[in-house]
Amino acid sequence: MVTVILPAAGQGKRMSNQTNKVFIPLQNRPVLIHSVLAFSACPEVDNLIIAAAATEVAVVKEMLAAVPGIKPWQVVVGGSERQYSIANALQVTPAAAAVILVHDAARPLIQPAMISRMIIAAREFKAAGLAVPLKDTVKKIDEEGFVTETPARRTMWIMQTPQAFDAAILRRAYAQAGRDGFLGTDDASLVERLGVRVKLVEGSYSNVKITTPEDIITAEALLKKGREPDMLRFGMGYDVHRLVEGRKLILGGVEVPHIHGLDGHSDADVLLHAIKDAMLGAAALGDIGRHFPDTDPQYKGISSLSLLGKVKDIIASKGYMVNNIDATIVAEKPKLAPYIGKMIANIAAKLMIDIDMVNVKATTTEGLGFAGKREGIAAYAVVSIMKDACVIK
Ligand code: CTP
Ligand code: MG
Repeated sequence: MVTVILPAAGQGKRMSNQTNKVFIPLQNRPVLIHSVLAFSACPEVDNLIIAAAATEVAVVKEMLAAVPGIKPWQVVVGGSERQYSIANALQVTPAAAAVILVHDAARPLIQPAMISRMIIAAREFKAAGLAVPLKDTVKKIDEEGFVTETPARRTMWIMQTPQAFDAAILRRAYAQAGRDGFLGTDDASLVERLGVRVKLVEGSYSNVKITTPEDIITAEALLKKGREPDMLRFGMGYDVHRLVEGRKLILGGVEVPHIHGLDGHSDADVLLHAIKDAMLGAAALGDIGRHFPDTDPQYKGISSLSLLGKVKDIIASKGYMVNNIDATIVAEKPKLAPYIGKMIANIAAKLMIDIDMVNVKATTTEGLGFAGKREGIAAYAVVSIMKDACVIK
């Protein structure tokens, strides 16, 4: 069993904010809830224990109760120091917990993948902490502000959380610190005193601790960057096929009854061709001709719907999935409205996206041009793609 302790009982004095900094909203969600959700997204985590200031227990409980999908949680009253808050949480940590993680509620940008790595590290090394290499040089100084020592920078790391431990070791470390009256600024330092070696796992500079007001600006910017808008990419596709006798008319994977069908090497599904070109275009991966040359006999007569699945995999290999699709079929005849629902269902199912993200429409050209003269059918598509959150790189 894996238990996570989230100390949230501080006063945030360095933030000089009215309320406890863990309640400050980032992208409309309190810092504490960001942290809670990150751990809840981690399949290996079993339960959460949040330490809240005595005066804030009720508000924290209310806040947690309003969020669906979080792991089983309980709230304990914190202490006057971070270490005492965690000691209180340890009192109610289930005996069945084999691994205990401690994470500052004030680090809302922690990624679930990092949490998983820390759990693995705790199992392997018994004691592990997330850390990043120091960017700046540090100095030791004396009371008058004069430098006494310059430790070599490459030997210095900045500790973050989560820190993850074999439960028995962490309990022993806290008991010993309590007996000795030792007060540390992180959990690893308590474990180090037992002579246990703590393994550092390289984390990310993005895992900021909200401490002073500028950290809010940094965290907001990092959160925005990780989200869709600037991650969306767009592509367009256009295709035309000639209408001939003796061929089936296939559009969006649906066989549409008609006296003519579209001519082509494959099933000539002009709608899916336009959509696939738009997908590849959005990912800057060329076009379908490049990936499935019509000189290659293996693609002769192939279902365009199965190739749509292949194009999905091609863009996935670059980390993308389709966000939404809008397409227009240009055809004078036949009337396509009765078949459009099925086309949308086919496309959404093949791409494993919601049908609400796919739109297909049809238009005539009032008898004008090749489409109007029923010589052929054209299709246009615009597709947006986004980074697939399920792809961990
Ligand atoms: N914390 C806690 N109990 C305390 C002090 C701190 O649970 N008595 C928590 C904080 O809420 C925070 C984490 O420990 O999530 C890291 O502490 P820190 O960044 O120092 O937060 P604060 O103590 O709130 O801030 P400050 O030191 O500026 O007052
Ligand atoms: Mg503090």
